[in-house]
Amino acid sequence: MWAQAQPNIALVKYWGKSNIARNLPAVGSLSITLDGLYSRMSVEILDDPGADSLTVNGDENTELLARVSGCIDLITGNERGAARVRSETNFPVAAGLASSASAFAALVTATYECVGKTADTLTKARIAGSVSGSAARSLYGGFVELSAGVEDIDVWPIADAQDWPLKVVVAVTEPEPKPVSSGEAMIRGAETSPFYDSWVERQPEDLTAARTAVENRDFEQLAAVSEHNCLKMHTVMWTSRPPIVYWNSATLACMEAVRELQKKSEPVFFTIDAGPQLKAVCLPSAEETVRDTLAGIDGVVEIHSSGLGLGARVLEGS
Ligand code: PMV
Repeated sequence: MWAQAQPNIALVKYWGKSNIARNLPAVGSLSITLDGLYSRMSVEILDDPGADSLTVNGDENTELLARVSGCIDLITGNERGAARVRSETNFPVAAGLASSASAFAALVTATYECVGKTADTLTKARIAGSVSGSAARSLYGGFVELSAGVEDIDVWPIADAQDWPLKVVVAVTEPEPKPVSSGEAMIRGAETSPFYDSWVERQPEDLTAARTAVENRDFEQLAAVSEHNCLKMHTVMWTSRPPIVYWNSATLACMEAVRELQKKSEPVFFTIDAGPQLKAVCLPSAEETVRDTLAGIDGVVEIHSSGLGLGARVLEGS
């Protein structure tokens, strides 16, 4: 039995932890769940104890294995047989494309199914989020808000995918895994960036602006707050010591291309996560132009176009 989840792209970003051990985010966030990219996970737990194993797209993966095993333990307890976990994705992993978000959302869903336990979506989201903060949001589809509580997170959908069918064009400029993980980079930012405290303090304003923009289907307002929030997060990264710069020259060229399209009144804006890929969010009318424009930029090696989609689910009959 396979479970599937799609990556989500934060428009108001999660960056920083209030509790490192429990992986609690220091700020709330707001995201959109995609439909074109996916992670599928299958979990089998054997009767006999032994080492867990994980394959990603057919290849054995030891890097992610400890987090995968720990995540399964949170659902089953650690007195269990060896887990055989298979993961399939249709996009590059660990390259700032939110592969951990879709992977852990799918893993939690697959593990519950495998052991025959039930839980509500928030419980599953909290478990996924304790492994990868952004994964909590991929349990839900469409537009999703996460609030950072002191004890635990809350996550809920604020609009369905079909309520406002935005498109996302992902320009991949470097498919290889990123040099610094987002978890490590966040901790460094909190400890060393002079802008970190202000980033945390100002987040509620951005969340309100983005939520209101979604409620009113106000693309311009969503564009303005999303770009602003993305650039603030990257400012914290750039001003960390040592600095963390995930962008490359093609990332910048893509940003400039989006600016040019905006000058021509195309409804599009950019956002960038912990990696050099640019995500252009647009209205359906602009999708083709955005896609063609970004595909023509030197250094763009892959383009993925996606609509908004559903939250994590079991693939019946798989
Ligand atoms: O969930 P993590 O630990 O992979 O961190 C995600 C961080 C960003 O993608 C940069 C922002 C976000 O809110 O998704």
